[in-house]
Amino acid sequence: MSETDEIVKKKSRKPTDGAFRQQRLPAWQPVLTPRTALPTFFVIGIIFTPIGGLLFWSNTRVVEIKLDYTNCYKYSSPVYLSKHQYTFQISQELNTSSFEPPAYHYQETSTFLNSNWQNPNNLSIPQCIIDFTVPQTMEPPIFIYYRLTDFYQNHRQYINSFDAGQLLGDAQSPPGSNCGPLRITDNGSNIYPCGLIANSMFNDTRSNLTSVNGATDMTFDFSATGIAWPTDKEKYAPTKYTPDSVVPPPNWAQRYPDGRYDADHPPPDLSQDESFMVWMRVAALPDFRKIWGRFGHGWKKEKSIREINRRECY
Ligand SMILES: *[C@@H]1O[C@H](CO)[C@@H](O)[C@H](O)[C@H]1NC(C)=O
Ligand SMILES: *[C@@H]1O[C@H](CO)[C@@H](O)[C@H](O)[C@H]1NC(C)=O
Ligand SMILES: *[C@@H]1O[C@H](CO)[C@@H](O)[C@H](O)[C@H]1NC(C)=O
Ligand SMILES: *[C@@H]1O[C@H](CO)[C@@H](O)[C@H](O)[C@H]1NC(C)=O
Ligand SMILES: *[C@@H]1O[C@H](CO)[C@@H](O)[C@H](O)[C@H]1NC(C)=O
Repeated sequence: MSETDEIVKKKSRKPTDGAFRQQRLPAWQPVLTPRTALPTFFVIGIIFTPIGGLLFWSNTRVVEIKLDYTNCYKYSSPVYLSKHQYTFQISQELNTSSFEPPAYHYQETSTFLNSNWQNPNNLSIPQCIIDFTVPQTMEPPIFIYYRLTDFYQNHRQYINSFDAGQLLGDAQSPPGSNCGPLRITDNGSNIYPCGLIANSMFNDTRSNLTSVNGATDMTFDFSATGIAWPTDKEKYAPTKYTPDSVVPPPNWAQRYPDGRYDADHPPPDLSQDESFMVWMRVAALPDFRKIWGRFGHGWKKEKSIREINRRECY
């Protein structure tokens, strides 16, 4: 063997002689004849039909009331919602035409204080009042959801626009570059919480529900705790920023005097704000619902709601 042969041998890029490297692994390809395909389809169908039926059946047993209050601001005295603005899904055979349709109207209010919504600036918030009849007893737990349509939380730049370290409490300065334009203000203040997702948080608030023609004016307290996923809660901790070192995102600014945090109005404790966590778990599709409140967790069945006749949303 000459010297040049040896160099050629060393440099050879021929893969080693193995079944995998030389693509000699055994292979199998199904031959789809009616005789093999039909039984397969039938077996799969037999397995999934009952599962689908069960899901469909349990879905129809859910009592659901949908109310669309988008246009509420147009009416200062009560008007009935039109047919496409509400739906009642009830499990019993009820004559829904004997119910009065829901009605809503709009009014200016003074300040609204809600423990789940920071409003140190005493903003005056317009209020929509919705009267509706609950057609059928609803057993707890009862949930309130809000629904947004054509909101693309799945946009590639939007999804990443938060700083995980900042949400875990670290005083990042400046916050992570993921936050893009909502990272620092023009004069260099850090935004907390930074990013597009936090800035665009759904900020309608709601009151608890009041039953208006029951024996007494009962209220039904829908709490905003216990709505976030336990795994999401682990992603938040009280912030280590000092109030003066950060500013709220632009869309939150109105709620703070002079549009900033200070010692009397510190940044919110996001680790207690489950509505925020729910918002930060971005929806996959542009038409989505997110949980807003829950009622009756751990309650006994006897305490079920009979009637809720009024809803106020702010
Ligand atoms: C439903 O109620 C309305 C008004 O009370 C009545 O006119 C109608 O006949 C009822 N329909 C049925 C199917 O019972
Ligand atoms: C908001 O109202 C509270 C209670 O009335 C008051 O203490 C506080 O100073 C007000 N804040 C502003 C910014 O006016
Ligand atoms: C940033 O600049 C604006 C306008 O120049 C000013 O009103 C605001 O007080 C400044 N913020 C801080 C935190 O310095
Ligand atoms: C609510 O959110 C919208 C959009 O994000 C924003 O324009 C508005 O200023 C916010 N309102 C308050 C009171 O924070
Ligand atoms: C509704 O009830 C819950 C639980 O009692 C309470 O924490 C919350 O502040 C109430 N909301 C309003 C707007 O009063």
